[in-house]
Amino acid sequence: QKLQMSLDQIEKGGYEHFMLKEIHEQPKAITDTFRGRMLAEDNIIKMSSIELNLDKFLNANRIIIVACGTSWHAGLVGEYLFEDMARIPVEVEYASEFRYRNPIITNKDIVIAISQSGETADTLAAIKLAKSKGAFVYGICNVVGSSIARETHAGAYTHAGPEIGVASTKAFTTQITVLTLIALKLGKANGSLADHTFKNYLKKMQLIPKQVEELLNIDEHVKQISAVYKDAKNCLYLGRGFNFPVALEGALKLKEISYIHAEGYPAAEMKHGPIALIDENMPIFVIATNRGHYEKVVSNIQEIKSRAGKIIAVVTEGDTTVKEIADHVIEIPDTEEALTPLLTTIPFQLLSYHIAVMLNKNVDQPRNLAKSVTVE
Ligand code: AGP
Repeated sequence: QKLQMSLDQIEKGGYEHFMLKEIHEQPKAITDTFRGRMLAEDNIIKMSSIELNLDKFLNANRIIIVACGTSWHAGLVGEYLFEDMARIPVEVEYASEFRYRNPIITNKDIVIAISQSGETADTLAAIKLAKSKGAFVYGICNVVGSSIARETHAGAYTHAGPEIGVASTKAFTTQITVLTLIALKLGKANGSLADHTFKNYLKKMQLIPKQVEELLNIDEHVKQISAVYKDAKNCLYLGRGFNFPVALEGALKLKEISYIHAEGYPAAEMKHGPIALIDENMPIFVIATNRGHYEKVVSNIQEIKSRAGKIIAVVTEGDTTVKEIADHVIEIPDTEEALTPLLTTIPFQLLSYHIAVMLNKNVDQPRNLAKSVTVE
């Protein structure tokens, strides 16, 4: 028993929980995902799995991304990235819906399956279905040699290292990293991205691990905010554009480890229903980065304020407008809007973690949940 305890502590590397360790591993995990691929000095992205299949990617009618849970959220960020950078139409599907829907798939479609574990039953079944209809299937997995990695025609590993906490953290940011690299590579290859734009993205991407590291210093500040809202019964997460999926992911993180009900919404959809929920007991987490539809989000924040909702805003450092309206602000370093999901997601991971710890929940192994869902 004693030996087991100490092994466990060693594995957690000095952190109280695997989840916290994995949150803090993200600068290294993202750097590992870049390794050998992002050659910023040479102004190239090297990914042999894309290069070998470049014709297929460049001639594809569309890309269909299939995944579940957090990996599906990463897929949604992928949709914004691929459409913006490479101008390729993308659909993102829950693997469980896709597989039973008799979907229309042709050999001009590319299916990208995203999975941390590489063992998720629905995602695996979606891959098999897509293959049987002649699609080229590309995998983005973390676990090397996993079923999904073996079942796909080609793919890229995320290199996040083992993720033990049931709540996915570093797997999510490294999935987004891989998707960004692919979107940039395809955008450059098909001429959608001008040379100087591509170069600028590479420059900004390279700064991300350091920026994540810097951002992790907000831990104490986020802990204080967590203490204020830990007894909330309902929370709302809002974001637009690239940060809409981050709102979904923020809500999922809170639900799964703290058991507080939370919903993620595109900020503009608030008016179409959730606004009715807002009162002085409702914390609302809003992503309001400086380049992404900023004015629109500010007006959403004003609407919340006038209904007495509590606003916790994730803003770009130096922001002044939102600071005046919001109850709390959390600052992230400046980057291109397309790259902000890699930063905006960090405060939400920390927030869920601290709330769950304060509520005495089993952070690494929440009730009813399995790390990989190998049954449907
Ligand atoms: C994430 O925090 C969840 N535990 C869950 O949604 C997970 O992302 C989902 O089950 C998919 O798993 P996979 O990435 O291993 O396929």
